[in-house]
Amino acid sequence: MLTLIRPDYNAICIEGARIVAELVRKKPDCILGFATGSSPLGLYQELIRMHQEEGLDFSKVTTFNLDEYVGLPPGHDQSYHFFMWENLFKHINVNPGYVHLPAGMADDVEEHCEWYDKRIDEVGGLDLQILGIGSNGHIAFNEPGSSLGSRTRVKTLTEKTRQDNARFFESIDQVPKYAITMGIGTIMDARKLILLASGKNKAQAIKNTLEGPISAMVPATIVQMHRHATLLIDEDAAGMLTADWRVD
Ligand code: GLP
Repeated sequence: MLTLIRPDYNAICIEGARIVAELVRKKPDCILGFATGSSPLGLYQELIRMHQEEGLDFSKVTTFNLDEYVGLPPGHDQSYHFFMWENLFKHINVNPGYVHLPAGMADDVEEHCEWYDKRIDEVGGLDLQILGIGSNGHIAFNEPGSSLGSRTRVKTLTEKTRQDNARFFESIDQVPKYAITMGIGTIMDARKLILLASGKNKAQAIKNTLEGPISAMVPATIVQMHRHATLLIDEDAAGMLTADWRVD
């Protein structure tokens, strides 16, 4: 696990985008796992810049997203489908046929979740998965208590997560109660992980993730077991660390 502490949000996004771009150049048909939330937004902006100014080519890339709210249609402005198209996909030359997000409106959600994991395997597995972290230590929508070996499935969102995400909705009542999420085992199968964390409200979760024991109660701690995980953290998110994790 490589932990990189950088001065601010912009710096972690630039570093993260550099890692993604390096992979895309080396393996143009790579399989990328994307995340939503505010954390990866700057990284996506940098990828868009690289596409527009440097010709970074996404035409052969296959994508899988981590999660999606159950019950929100793809056109809903708070669905993760909508988020990904608005904030990344429509600005780069990704092939829409190669884009995968869990279907929050699937008739048979269980069957869909099984299909999603199978599809990842069929295309050769995730080369790189981008992650944010919830203030309670969740990754994707694997809330505290999630099995560390879990596969893609439906999870009930905690009150804390619904409160955190209420800022994007008119009121907390409109925040969905369930989501489809890649499992922790599914995420751990990715050949590389990048976890981005920025801001003081992530400091406790980052402390637990880096310095705490591996526990299903803090799902992000599982990244300690990954062979190629890079944690990109800004000074605010690193503010509660006791060990010196600084790497130049
Ligand atoms: C949601 C997403 C996670 C994300 C988390 C943190 O719960 N399912 O993938 O990491 O929010 O979001 P933010 O980056 O906005 O703090």
